Amino acid sequence: MTCRLPAALALLILPALPAGAQSLEDSAARLAELLRAGRAVISENQALINDPGLGDKGLTPEAFLSQVTAAFLARTGSPAVSEDLPPFQRALAEAQLEAMGQTIAEAQPLINMEGVGFKGFIPAVFARLANERFGELADGRAAVKITAPPELVRNRKARPDDWERAVIEDRFLSAGWTRGEAYAEETGPGFRMLIPEYYSESCLACHGSPAGETDVTGFPKEGKAAGDLGGAISITLRP
Ligand code: HEC
Repeated sequence: MTCRLPAALALLILPALPAGAQSLEDSAARLAELLRAGRAVISENQALINDPGLGDKGLTPEAFLSQVTAAFLARTGSPAVSEDLPPFQRALAEAQLEAMGQTIAEAQPLINMEGVGFKGFIPAVFARLANERFGELADGRAAVKITAPPELVRNRKARPDDWERAVIEDRFLSAGWTRGEAYAEETGPGFRMLIPEYYSESCLACHGSPAGETDVTGFPKEGKAAGDLGGAISITLRP
């Protein structure tokens, strides 16, 4: 197929994903990995983005997306988009890359602002904006959200719904849960998967101790430690 459809349209007219929980899990896992690649590229460029002495950073959507696809390939050993992917998976990846590119395009004035160091354009903010845009492009067929245990939520938009909250509290935070293991379930509103995320040392400047102290973004720190559950990537698919 040589014609390139706008991602949202492509999703709407593409055939349904072949039935089977495995392909749904694969699709959800790929969405999570591509989101992680996008966040990692923001993180790798954080010093550049925060440079107050530089105007144009050269972090165009094209430059950003080529780093993201390289990071995805390095993380998974598989290209983000290829002819070999099932059509639904491929359309999801294209829509997600489109959403990330639009997010970076819209952030250009902020990223390129001279004379301002920290601009608040961090991986979590990028991820939220890109996920929102992805949800619009996917038009109800797929959604990606980052959520967290209720007491850790900073942005109200990240608040867990009942299903997410139950999975976090009854499974991820339970003693017997295998660290890092995702939970997936066929629910009324679609196939849902929740993937736990844990704080590493690099997160603690903002989410660490002392609890209550204001971090660089203006939020009170949560007083968490490396290894603690920080949140979860939540994916819904309605193929
Ligand atoms: C520079 C400070 C900073 C660092 C470092 C940081 N975060 Fe955050 N984090 C934030 C801010 C600010 C938000 C709210 C973003 C928004 O507006 O949606 C956030 C949001 C989140 C959320 C979404 C839920 C919520 O609270 O709104 C999770 C999960 C999260 N961070 C985990 C992490 C993890 C894991 C790391 C390390 C890999 C990390 N953060 C590093 C500042 C930071």
